[in-house]
Amino acid sequence: MSAILEIGGVKATELANQFKTPLYVYDQNQIEDTLTTFVENFKSEAFPTKIIYASKAFQAVQMVNLVADYGLGIDVVSGGELFTTLKSKMPREGIYFHGNNKSREELDLAFKSWVSHIICDNIMELNVIDELSHQYQQKMNIMLRLNVGIEAHTHEYIITSHIDSKFGFAFESEECSQCLALLTDHPYLTFEGVHCHIGSQIFDLTAWYAAIDKLVSALKTFEQPLVLNIGGGFGIKYTDDDQPIELAESLRLLIRYVETALLEQDVTITALMIEPGRSIVGGAGSTLYTVGYQKQTPEKLYYFVDGGMSDNLRPSLYQAKYACDLANKLDAPKTEKVTVAGKCCESGDILITECLLPPAEEGDLLVTYTTGAYGHSMSNQYNKNLIPAVVFVKDGVAREVIRRQTLEDLLRYEMLD
Ligand code: LLP
Repeated sequence: MSAILEIGGVKATELANQFKTPLYVYDQNQIEDTLTTFVENFKSEAFPTKIIYASKAFQAVQMVNLVADYGLGIDVVSGGELFTTLKSKMPREGIYFHGNNKSREELDLAFKSWVSHIICDNIMELNVIDELSHQYQQKMNIMLRLNVGIEAHTHEYIITSHIDSKFGFAFESEECSQCLALLTDHPYLTFEGVHCHIGSQIFDLTAWYAAIDKLVSALKTFEQPLVLNIGGGFGIKYTDDDQPIELAESLRLLIRYVETALLEQDVTITALMIEPGRSIVGGAGSTLYTVGYQKQTPEKLYYFVDGGMSDNLRPSLYQAKYACDLANKLDAPKTEKVTVAGKCCESGDILITECLLPPAEEGDLLVTYTTGAYGHSMSNQYNKNLIPAVVFVKDGVAREVIRRQTLEDLLRYEMLD
């Protein structure tokens, strides 16, 4: 008998039998351990701290419930993420609404559902929020998204804060002055603080420190203490090539840096906020596939799996790298140099360009690790592949948190005659 991968105390083979493949599997204890690491290490004697989960990384009602249990808030970026959150037990005051082009309808939903924090991206959006606040005669806290012009050293597509980025505006800009003027003595809108997000998969805190310096200088120009929100972006390890700083250590370093920067610039804040997404769910998630056919070309041996870019877009979009195993043959010698390809009609549908795996047979289970962030949330229906189920496993018990799509689901929105 070969060694079989266990996730959260359940064998991968049992999960595949019960829920079919492809399957997103989360080790719930691992998510909870990470949440504990955040809560225990992101704190200071000098100011209150607030952690909000960037739910674009993976959102499901049960996931939001879990982060609410640990006292985190949530970052939502669309009416859809907001609607899902409203079905969870997340307190309304824990919801922060992000996004560069929130529609009137989405902002309207925020007011109607008593969301109380909006991170505003531009003056046109603020004008709409202003209108709605009068219409509803309702208060709203507004954070301004600043573009600090600093790039974290990550893949180009994931950088969001270089100077021509579509997100935010410079503190020195006319647009910023207009926003601040609108917020001054506003009957309903309260200027809550400043925000920036300098990128994702950050391994080197230097860029973050530079961003903090800029935001603290901006905060110094205001009389009243405000919130300092430094976004998300903690890097995680996908393969051995990635060497992130340990999470607890990163959190402590950031806290220490902010404490010092505030002291040096003589600034007081009402809270320090972060918005981690990937680091909370990335490492806790794996995807299980069934190996189908194989193909030997002159240069390559392909293992084809029953999913691909429809359940994990990251390799084709960002050339993202993943590690994998045959989950039902963990201890078999890895003698084959393999390319793992999906089943989509697209040559770029390659999940892993090159890896070593044992010889496989049709029906073996292949696991790709670290797919918990931006895997399910970027899934799509290319080729009308069904979106896989999501399962949380904890202490030997698996529970489905999102069921697998069915063929009937595909026709749900179609006019059949
Ligand atoms: N806050 C803001 C304002 C953000 O834009 C993001 C991510 C986060 C927080 C969370 O960042 P994290 O901690 O997850 O790195 N689809 C890409 C990632 C796009 C990230 C966009 N913003 C990927 O699959 O790598």
